[in-house]
Amino acid sequence: MAQIIDGKAVSADVKAEVAAEAAKLKEENGLKVGLAVVIVGNDPASRVYVNNKKKACEAVGFQSFEYALDESTTQEQLLDLVNVLNRDNRVNGILVQLPLPKHIDEKAVINAISPDKDVDAFHPVNVGKIMIGEYSFLPCTPAGVMRLIESTGFDITGKQCVVIGRSNIVGKPQAMLLLQKNGTVTICHSKTKNLKEICLSADILVVAIGRAKFITGDMIKEGAVVIDVGMDRDENGKLCGDVDFETAEKAAGWITPVPGGVGPMTIAMLMKNTLTAAKQQAGI
Ligand code: GUN
Repeated sequence: MAQIIDGKAVSADVKAEVAAEAAKLKEENGLKVGLAVVIVGNDPASRVYVNNKKKACEAVGFQSFEYALDESTTQEQLLDLVNVLNRDNRVNGILVQLPLPKHIDEKAVINAISPDKDVDAFHPVNVGKIMIGEYSFLPCTPAGVMRLIESTGFDITGKQCVVIGRSNIVGKPQAMLLLQKNGTVTICHSKTKNLKEICLSADILVVAIGRAKFITGDMIKEGAVVIDVGMDRDENGKLCGDVDFETAEKAAGWITPVPGGVGPMTIAMLMKNTLTAAKQQAGI
C-alpha cells in the first residue's frame, strides 16, 4: 500500500520558507514583495484561482495588486496595462490569469510580460532558459511536482521517469526538470502506442493528461512514485485526478491524492518565484 504524499504539508513548508525570507527582505532591505494579478472577464474558475493567489500573497507577507478587467477589454488595452506593470517598481511579478477571452491573443500577452517579472515562466525567454538549465523561474506546477518527489527522498538519478502529457505548461517542462535530475525520461501522450507497457516501466510516473482516472493500478510498477497532476470530475461529478487512486495506491510506493496533492503546490511555487523575482530585481 502506497504512502500518501501530502501536498498540503509540503506546500505549507514552502510558504513558510518564503514568508521567512520575505520578512527578512523587508527588515534588512526595506523591500516589500509585490505580485500583480490580472484577470479578464468573469470565468468562475479563474476568479477562484485569483482569489487563492491573493490570499497566498497575504499569508506570506506580499503585496498583491489585482486588475479585474471587463470581458470586453481589447488586446491593446491589456497590452498597455502589461507595459505599465513592467515599469511599476512595486510590482515584482506579473501574472495574467489564463484563459483569456477569445478575441485576445494569449501569446501576444505572454510575450509582452517582461521575462524578469514572468513568474509563471511562460515567456519564450524563460522557456528557453529551462531547456539549457539556466533558469530563474520554473513553471509553478512542474516545480511543485519536483518538490513533492524530493519530499519522498526518492533519488531520481538513473531512474525511469514517464511523463504522460506534453503541454507547454506541464508535460514538456516536467520532462526537462526530470532530465536535469538525471532521470531517463519518456514523454507519452494521447497517441502513444503501448502506453500500459511504458507506464509499467516507470519508477516515477507523472500524469497530466486531463482524463479522469485514466491510469489504473495495473499500469503501475510495484513501488513507483506516482504524481497526479489531473483535476477532473468522475462519473458522479466528484473531483478526482487522472489516476484511479483506489487501484493505484495498491501498487505504488508513493502517491499524491486529488485534492491535496499537486494542487496546493502550484500557488506555493508561484510565491517562491515572486520572491526570486524581487530579489533579482533588487540585485540581492
Ligand atoms: N490558468 C490556469 N493555471 C494557470 C497558471 O498556472 N497561470 C496562469 N497565468 N493562468 C492559469
